[in-house]
Amino acid sequence: MSIEQLAETAQAMVAAGKGIIAIDESNNTIAKRFEAVGIPNSEENRRAYREMLLTTPGLNEHISGAILYDETIRQSTRAGVPFTKLMRDNGIIPGIKVDKGPQPLAGFPGEVVTEGLDGLRDRLKEYYGLGARFAKWRAVIHIGEDIPSGSCIEANSHALARYAALCQEQGLVPMVEPEVLMDGSHDIETCYEVTEVVLRSLFDALYQQSVMLEGTILKASMVVPGKDCEEQASIDEVAESTLMCLKTTVPAILPGIVFLSGGQSDADATAHLDAMNRMGPQPWPLSFSYGRAMQSAALKLWAQDLVGNVARAQQIVHARARDNGLAALGQWTGGA
Ligand code: 13P
Repeated sequence: MSIEQLAETAQAMVAAGKGIIAIDESNNTIAKRFEAVGIPNSEENRRAYREMLLTTPGLNEHISGAILYDETIRQSTRAGVPFTKLMRDNGIIPGIKVDKGPQPLAGFPGEVVTEGLDGLRDRLKEYYGLGARFAKWRAVIHIGEDIPSGSCIEANSHALARYAALCQEQGLVPMVEPEVLMDGSHDIETCYEVTEVVLRSLFDALYQQSVMLEGTILKASMVVPGKDCEEQASIDEVAESTLMCLKTTVPAILPGIVFLSGGQSDADATAHLDAMNRMGPQPWPLSFSYGRAMQSAALKLWAQDLVGNVARAQQIVHARARDNGLAALGQWTGGA
């Protein structure tokens, strides 16, 4: 796979006014989301839910790609059309989550390292054959007393870089995601400092492993105060801090940065992205790769009547995609 093809895919992922819908919840994670709205976590419910999302009329107006889970990339619509075919026919690029989740980091209580490198080359080959053109790996960084440690940051960056190099070898664009969690009572300055160190370490590791940045997408967390911090930040403070942190750490050659929502409200996630783009132009397109902030409202409604509410739930998905697509252009007016 040439770097030009990888770069082309990466650029399409962050095409103007478009972003990614993350529907790559593992079966354990979707179990929590389903439980919260009172529906059983059966394979058929997971399939029907993802079908509802992916068959949203007009989704491709604002969505360039969707991140799937291992089970989902093998599933089809009720009518028998494989999800990946449906997506490609609609101009939506199939992506796949390839990490195997965070595990406790030995010797560092309270910290985790993401696993999944063993056998990854073969899994990537299979996913490419199934139609995936980009792949996501999420590292998780906790902020707390005396954490994160340098060792934890380094272990996660190394894994991210190894996975990214393997992706490019196999023709998939790596979407590298170092998520600094919002959990805790730390202030926004602490989040800034941690995020800066994490991003520096990540781009060092990508360089060490010969990852081509032209064919890489960063999935970043925003610089925000901890959920339990007494002093919360304004929309503009979050936008300014996040931009400053990214500008000082992320090379301009990167084709784009997309954000996770990380537990922010739908309105905050959209408003923050919109504010950053209004402060532009920026060195890279800034867009979204939201999971919860794309799905929560639609899931709630769909759960009340799995068959009867499909069309209305899809209207909500489309509205969230449109709002975030406008925010990716700095043209969202819903905050006014
Ligand atoms: P959230 O937007 O819900 O944080 O999910 C995005 C994601 O893919 C996390 O890995």
